[in-house]
Amino acid sequence: MKISTPTDFDDLWRNATLYAIIAAWAQRGLFSSLMQKPCAIEDLSANQRALECTVPMLIHSGLLQTDGQLLALTPLATKIEQQADWPKAGLGQISDLSRLGDTFDDGDPVKDEQGTPQKTDGGVNREVPEQARNFIDTLYHRSDESSLLTAQWLQRHWAAGGRILDLGGGHGRYAKELADRGFDLTLFDIELVVAFARERYGNTLSYINGDFLVDDLGGSWDGIFMSNIVHGLSEEENRHLLKRLRNALKPGAMLAVKDMFLDQSGAHPEVSAAFAVTMLMYTSAGKSYRLNDYQQWCQEAGFSDFQIIYTPSYEICLAR
Ligand SMILES: C[S@@+](CC[C@H](N)C(=O)[O-])C[C@H]1O[C@@H](n2cnc3c(N)ncnc32)[C@H](O)[C@@H]1O
Repeated sequence: MKISTPTDFDDLWRNATLYAIIAAWAQRGLFSSLMQKPCAIEDLSANQRALECTVPMLIHSGLLQTDGQLLALTPLATKIEQQADWPKAGLGQISDLSRLGDTFDDGDPVKDEQGTPQKTDGGVNREVPEQARNFIDTLYHRSDESSLLTAQWLQRHWAAGGRILDLGGGHGRYAKELADRGFDLTLFDIELVVAFARERYGNTLSYINGDFLVDDLGGSWDGIFMSNIVHGLSEEENRHLLKRLRNALKPGAMLAVKDMFLDQSGAHPEVSAAFAVTMLMYTSAGKSYRLNDYQQWCQEAGFSDFQIIYTPSYEICLAR
């Protein structure tokens, strides 16, 4: 966001307030109360003053509509509610943001109110399975378009029927889209997350439980796909992983990495710049990387023949 005048801070504050309202409504199940039919404010089970003070902001945001008497979800809010895609961790994230300054002491992930570091592996906290499930579900819902587009692109680059590994495949939506196009897909992830993908896709996919930095990757593969993994790892881990991937691929087979990279300036696009802060807060060494740096690591790991597919919010980097 651009700060052009001092009063832009008012907009920032209003946006932060709106985010907190949405998170509070989602946490209290208030959007789902409106799912069946329009309701009067008095029919919602929450403090009336809190409702009266927050409803107007939700109307301005385009999530609620009213006829002056009843409230209803807009089509967008209905879709978000159906996909259970409200920012469930929203209030927790705002409270974590208030402690962002602590990361300037040691670069470690933010700590919660009890002082426990909020460290995750690529967003997954193995110690809190319910939180891990929510995170993976959110990624699943958010990847409806990107998994489709990515599979359409990759279909053009891998030979039909090839054995493809989806490394850190999470929910499995990318793997499923590729499997639907005739590839033989195996999803690799930690045991907890593989169980989530298996619940969703059963025998459509094959699965490997493990730590991709140390365990056998099960090659030789005709292709390896990785989405949203690079930014969760340190530079050393990425270099190490890329060497392992080169060895797990058949000679000349293609690696496809989807991620949000920065350009040569190190500041653009904004979506990657913003994502670096999330990595600072929730991983021990992740950040947004420059595309050129990533390509350099690939070269060092023995890859060449680079090609990049640009989209407005991520890149897909191909290398052989
Ligand atoms: C940000 S999620 C990405 C999920 C999916 N690829 C996507 O783009 O939506 C990162 C995934 O990598 C997995 N992961 C992180 N570190 C891992 C490791 N060392 N070994 C195996 N899986 C790992 C996490 O469990 C999680 O499912």
